[in-house]
Amino acid sequence: MSNQTNNKKFKIDEQSILDLKVDQSKFISFIRSSDEKTLVSLLSRLGRLNSSNQNLVPHLIELLRHRSVSVRVAAAHNLGKFGDDSLLPALAPFVMPDQSTDVRREIVSAIGRMRSLLAVELLTDVLQDEDPKVILQAIRGLLVFKKNPEVMQVLRPLTTHPNEEIKRILLPMFDVTNRNNTEVRKDVAPASFMTNVVVKGDVLQTLKEVPDEEVHLTFTSPPYYNARDYSIYRSYGEYLEFLKEVFEGVHRVTREGRFLIVNTSPVIVARFSRSHASRRYPIPFDIHAFMASIGWEYIDDIIWLKPEASVKNRNAGFLQHRKPLGYKPNTVTEMLMVYRKKTDRLIDWNMKQYDESTIEQSLIPDGFETSNVWKIDPKFNKIHSAVFPVELCEKVISYYSFKGDLVFDPFAGSGTLGKAALGLGRVFFLTEMNEQYFDLMRTSLSVENKLFDNSAYKPARFVGIDEFKRLRLGNAEG
Ligand SMILES: C[S@@+](CC[C@H](N)C(=O)[O-])C[C@H]1O[C@@H](n2cnc3c(N)ncnc32)[C@H](O)[C@@H]1O
Repeated sequence: MSNQTNNKKFKIDEQSILDLKVDQSKFISFIRSSDEKTLVSLLSRLGRLNSSNQNLVPHLIELLRHRSVSVRVAAAHNLGKFGDDSLLPALAPFVMPDQSTDVRREIVSAIGRMRSLLAVELLTDVLQDEDPKVILQAIRGLLVFKKNPEVMQVLRPLTTHPNEEIKRILLPMFDVTNRNNTEVRKDVAPASFMTNVVVKGDVLQTLKEVPDEEVHLTFTSPPYYNARDYSIYRSYGEYLEFLKEVFEGVHRVTREGRFLIVNTSPVIVARFSRSHASRRYPIPFDIHAFMASIGWEYIDDIIWLKPEASVKNRNAGFLQHRKPLGYKPNTVTEMLMVYRKKTDRLIDWNMKQYDESTIEQSLIPDGFETSNVWKIDPKFNKIHSAVFPVELCEKVISYYSFKGDLVFDPFAGSGTLGKAALGLGRVFFLTEMNEQYFDLMRTSLSVENKLFDNSAYKPARFVGIDEFKRLRLGNAEG
């Protein structure tokens, strides 16, 4: 009789599974007569297993020799459910020789679940595995004994392992300055001399006056190299160096574990003459290249998608000639690169710094963006040529900050971020060096500030760098 015929006869409903779990001979005949898919299906539905199902153990061990990786993985997973260290001698011979990483990892997981000191030697051997995923599984099993100095001695050499994930897990455990995740920074409220302040001047100068770790969230759109007239740099390299310095400063002033979102897109700088090609600069990618070295951890990339009618048409030429290599798509996207100030603390630690009522008031209602493509119409402004749509700022602020937080835009332009912050019960800190845009903010933000007036808010203050220094000094003296 073929396997298929047999499988048709045997329906795997809940009752059949219960029967198989207690009746050894039924289990054996099912294994013998089933194809791989049916076998995996049964093994994934066995549910809880304990000492009353010991009769299955030899057959599950036997399945670790099955030619199918999926069957071997499923069998190892079920053996792990017993959490029984008497299975150690039977499982041990299967760990190292298996060609499949998934199987080795699952067997190591089963051994780890025994939570037995008897398994330490075998788990220690597994630390030599070539696959970091298997090593991580062994580390997980060994860390059950993290209070045991001998086990920790075994793990210490792995702090220099080339794999970043292994180092990320182990380094903090051997760091004498390691802080635990329950410690809470008490002063979650922003310093009053920074709230609702717009500073006119070069961002690098202003940043020097900002104390460490004051900002909760930064959302910014830096100048687009030399594609717009408000930003002239001698070279692209110089431009990137400037941005690197800015994001170093932003890193210093950002609170631990909080976010920076950078909005950019590649730009084209017009060609020199008809006999030259125009040049496209991949700004988001070049910025990304140095962010990790500053201490910004990459979290997400969000695409801001605009309607095609709103962007410059680049395919007019191609429309005529249709020749390969001359193809140029219209660029309807900008990128929002999401970074977090690198820390060993979990996001939970950041959340726990807020009281229940602030968390409740900051909850994000239905209708939030569920994917990383956000369709938002661009906004045009008569005075400023590249403003954020308020909707974009509102989304970023509500997803990445709590009520009362200080949000910062080092390249504030028309101050859209500030307006959105006020509307959402946050406070802002903005810097802008262009006098005309600074004046534009003076008008719009003063109005908006009245609009959203609330006794807890300070009225917006528009200051030069020297005045800002005095504000800070006053704060220190007060
Ligand atoms: C892309 S625009 C930002 C527009 C802004 N997101 C808005 O909604 O209006 C970049 C801004 O950075 C400003 N900027 C350029 N270099 C600067 C610097 N070194 N310090 C401060 N602001 C600067 C420019 O004047 C420009 O307004």
